[in-house]
Amino acid sequence: MVRIADVAKMANVSTATVSRVISNAGTVKKETAEKVLEAIKELNYQPNMLARQLRRSETKTILVVVPDITNTFFSAVLRGIESVAIENGYQVLLGDARNDVESETSFLTILGQKKADGLILLTARTDQKILEDLSQDYPVVLACEYYEGSKLPTVSIDNVSSARKATEYLISLNHKRIGHISGPLNIVVGRDRCRGFHQAMAQHGLSVDPSLVQEGEFSFESGFNLMMKFLSLENPPTALFAGNDEMAMGAIKAAKSKGLRVPEDLSVVGFDDIQFASIFEPALTTVAQPTFDMGQKAMRLLLKLIKDEELEKDQFILPDQLIVRESCKELTIEE
Ligand code: RIB
Repeated sequence: MVRIADVAKMANVSTATVSRVISNAGTVKKETAEKVLEAIKELNYQPNMLARQLRRSETKTILVVVPDITNTFFSAVLRGIESVAIENGYQVLLGDARNDVESETSFLTILGQKKADGLILLTARTDQKILEDLSQDYPVVLACEYYEGSKLPTVSIDNVSSARKATEYLISLNHKRIGHISGPLNIVVGRDRCRGFHQAMAQHGLSVDPSLVQEGEFSFESGFNLMMKFLSLENPPTALFAGNDEMAMGAIKAAKSKGLRVPEDLSVVGFDDIQFASIFEPALTTVAQPTFDMGQKAMRLLLKLIKDEELEKDQFILPDQLIVRESCKELTIEE
């Protein structure tokens, strides 16, 4: 089947431009529109008119799907989305996938059922092809998570370099035996943060002991359990980079339960800067993601797609920041 992306490729324009030509939006230059019409003819492209008609009847509602509503990181992103949505007369319908891919995918039918004008996904675990096909007919934006090498409009941070930064901070405090509790490696941000950890260690000539890298579940419990595993080793780590704040907090709880002090006996860096990170004891050193800004940006992009406007680019990488608090300490080497 010929898809809108094929037409866009042949005419050397974006899919949004093809879409605007088809819907006669009148904002496309004459020569560009002619190129698009030629490609449509040559490829015998049949736009999905039913989906387009469904789209035209506005609901003034957008759907946001989060992987796990219990992780307060996502509430902060939602706040950003909602602020722009409300400003523009939209209401937000929320879908909590509960970390379940099938449930995440089932929310996508809401678009076809005419219950929302567009979709923001804060999770990218559905089959990439399903989502790319859906985005041919409906406005779709990804935020926080993403697909590698995809052209789907996406807002995120650079998780690899952020993880490198977190690990380098521990290295700068003289730690060499650094552990990593990663997020699930079937989730892109889990993988990218793990990659950043390995890169930083390699760049500083430090070897990674495989027993000090464990795959967690982005949950408090997994951080606790895997830290207990590290602490049962003959030679436990002196520092830990956790793939998110919840796991960092779980790990600190485990260390405390074994009578260790953080940061005196163990330094810990988290990831996200959730609200509780600064209240926690000790206040957590962590990589802050610009949650509110990511939400706002994603909603602004979605509004453009809903209005069939062209996006200036499809990948938006926002800046992160390492927030140094009280959970890390320089390792003093005894002579
Ligand atoms: O989905 C869990 C994690 O992914 C969150 O903690 C946040 O880091 C997000 O990017």
